Amino acid sequence: MVWVHILPAASYKEVKMVEHNRMKTSEFIIPEIGIAEIDSDHAEIMRLIKSTINANDKTQFFDFVVQALDYIHKHFAAEEAFMESIQYPGRRIHGIEHKSLRDFVKVYLKPTLQEMTNREEIVRECVKAFKFHVVEHDVPLANYILAQGLKFDKDK
Ligand SMILES: [Fe+2]
Ligand SMILES: [Fe+2]
Repeated sequence: MVWVHILPAASYKEVKMVEHNRMKTSEFIIPEIGIAEIDSDHAEIMRLIKSTINANDKTQFFDFVVQALDYIHKHFAAEEAFMESIQYPGRRIHGIEHKSLRDFVKVYLKPTLQEMTNREEIVRECVKAFKFHVVEHDVPLANYILAQGLKFDKDK
């Protein structure tokens, strides 16, 4: 591309780094599990996580992280209460997985909040961990809900 040649070498390198680090929109797309309320929660969690990348400064980043963690906390609590209400056989393991995912996110984010370094890399790891949870644990829950003809109730 012609415009590349008008940039000094250092700037071009920086541009390439930014391109390399920028997370693709597809990375934030989470597979749907077939339960509308859970799917919309997952999409909102992804939207909130994505917003952390666009924070302009440390304060804004912290605010976005708190919002995302708060939403994740509420979502996990809703799933856990529902699993309990239907006596879902996998509820204990699923609850443990929620806790370890929360801990994972906190451990990853702590140094980021202090340093603001490797932000995209760390957010990427959190997104991967969240997607893994959805595929490994929320999908079996959804399958159970559908097989039993149950209705997910967020307020249970
Ligand atoms: Fe879950
Ligand atoms: Fe979930």
